[in-house]
Amino acid sequence: MDNRPIGVFDSGVGGLTTVKELTRIMPGEDIVYFGDTGRVPYGTRSKQTIAKYAMQDVDFLKKHNVKMIIAACGTVSTNVADDKIAKAAGVPYTGAVLPAAQAACAASPTGKIGVIGTTATVRSGMYGKLIRNIRPDAKIVGNSCPLFVPLVENGYIDFENQVTRLVAKDYLEPIIREKVDTLILGCTHYPVIYDIINDLMGYEVTLIDAGKETARFAQRCLTENGLLHEERQEAGEIQYYVTDTPEGFEEIAYRFLGVEAKGKVQMVDIDTL
Ligand code: DGL
Repeated sequence: MDNRPIGVFDSGVGGLTTVKELTRIMPGEDIVYFGDTGRVPYGTRSKQTIAKYAMQDVDFLKKHNVKMIIAACGTVSTNVADDKIAKAAGVPYTGAVLPAAQAACAASPTGKIGVIGTTATVRSGMYGKLIRNIRPDAKIVGNSCPLFVPLVENGYIDFENQVTRLVAKDYLEPIIREKVDTLILGCTHYPVIYDIINDLMGYEVTLIDAGKETARFAQRCLTENGLLHEERQEAGEIQYYVTDTPEGFEEIAYRFLGVEAKGKVQMVDIDTL
């Protein structure tokens, strides 16, 4: 048993899709969430900058005495090697890429797997590398979907939203053409428009939600290492830290989590962390 919180970080608000799943499957766990809202997006930045930011994010969480660190951010997970972050973390660590790659390989009958993510995620080629380690016969088709993040953050998320549908159709077209049977949603924001993507891809294609897979991976890791919180009736506490004003975060957090984050969000200065 270990009653310390789980640390989760992301470039901004998107990592809350992972938090949502963590609280669903492990409701008794406390969570410290760090969202680097002052420096988002990471997905358009260079590998070096992403690595620098990720290390600072990890340092912040370490100061909160967390028992495990999760990089919910697809961009961090694909651009900074797991072992580099794990070494800095000093506690069990997982990013989002390995859990999602494993789940995709298990789900795909033909090995034709699509990957969508930020520009930096697709550029990294990391999903292809990991998937081929597990399934050398795999054929991977990737496409970056940079407009999905602002569309989701601005609330263009309804199933019938014609703007998001038009954009999604354009992004998904090359992947549909390759007849993939499995598609990895390799960015924190994409599960919010899961139903639109599902509809456009065709319901016979399996969608892998990287955030959900990461939460399940973390649960297995905590269980195997005897690090789960002792059993309790009440829900765990979530404390949010952001690097820009809490207001914007609180509003979008509601969209991601479906519960209020108000009053639990604190702004921190990244330069004095
Ligand atoms: N959280 C990022 C990801 O999952 C998306 C937003 C960004 O570009 O920073 O890749």
